[in-house]
Amino acid sequence: MSAPDATGIDRVGVVGCGLMGSGIAEVSARAGLDTLVYEVSDQALDAGRGRIQDSLDRAVKRGKIDEAERDAALAALRFTTDLDEFADRDLAIEAAPEDEALKVRVFGTLDRVMTSPDALLTSNTSAIPIAKLGAATTRPAQVMGLHFFNPVPVLDLVELVPSLVTSTRAQERVRAFAEGPLARKVIVSQDRAGFVVNALLIPYILAAVRMHESGFAAPEDIDDGMVRGCAHPMGPLALADHIGLDTTLAVAESLYAEFKEPLYAPPPLLSRMVQAGLLGRKTGRGFYEHQGR
Ligand code: 3HC
Repeated sequence: MSAPDATGIDRVGVVGCGLMGSGIAEVSARAGLDTLVYEVSDQALDAGRGRIQDSLDRAVKRGKIDEAERDAALAALRFTTDLDEFADRDLAIEAAPEDEALKVRVFGTLDRVMTSPDALLTSNTSAIPIAKLGAATTRPAQVMGLHFFNPVPVLDLVELVPSLVTSTRAQERVRAFAEGPLARKVIVSQDRAGFVVNALLIPYILAAVRMHESGFAAPEDIDDGMVRGCAHPMGPLALADHIGLDTTLAVAESLYAEFKEPLYAPPPLLSRMVQAGLLGRKTGRGFYEHQGR
């Protein structure tokens, strides 16, 4: 376990242990931080714990960490279905589904529960205004976006997103935490839907969905085009499956609501696939069939 660092952030709480939350919890625990993870049910916690375990095992197999480091990370993690246990946390990272009403509720609860006056409340949201999350608390100066990328243990970027009222001190502490213990590369974005990366990425994915929907080209050809023609690690439709079509749709809806630009409007095929439960890798089928977790 590492010593408390200059940021004063030693106890971390992660809200949600889905695709993103499990990755965030894993990198926090791998940094030696006391990491408490919340999920709504024991079943969701078991799934999240399994995801973290699998990823740590994969990291050992790939020679990224040794077995002792894996075991230390597992020992740094605790799991709960009671958000009241976040009372002693120095930093909360909310990684609940992209549902504004839900996130607003979570921030209200975190504000009530977290007792330290210096506690920082951050969100991994991709597109929901940080200002709205801050307004759900009594300490909006200590609320900001801290946006990770999937797979979190592999992609080392975070976007820091202060709202108009986030204090300079809070921004400095969150940056020092991201660059220090979490060893992330940091970019800063204004509090605009999509921030930097999704404002660029989502219209690209939506264009690929429209291309497939209109019969312009087959999914495999669209993806091969970008992998082999532009050296992207995966094509846009495989990437949508990887992110989750529900999350992709939710981010597109937030972008469209904010900018009213047609390029952000979700194509009907994407909405229908989400309505049919074809969410990509997480449900085993999206634009492609997937096996395993
Ligand atoms: N822990 C640590 N390292 C791991 C690991 C783990 N659990 N699993 C894999 N790795 C490492 C591997 O060792 C390898 O490292 P190396 O290059 O040094 O050898 C590297 O990660 C790649 O792993 P793999 O060989 O298993 O896999 P691929 O080469 O097939 O890559 C991928 C898979 C990393 C998913 C790659 O295809 C990729 O980066 N795709 C793009 C993903 C992307 O764009 N994500 C962003 C989505 S947007 C987002 O998240 C924001 C949200 O708001 C929507």
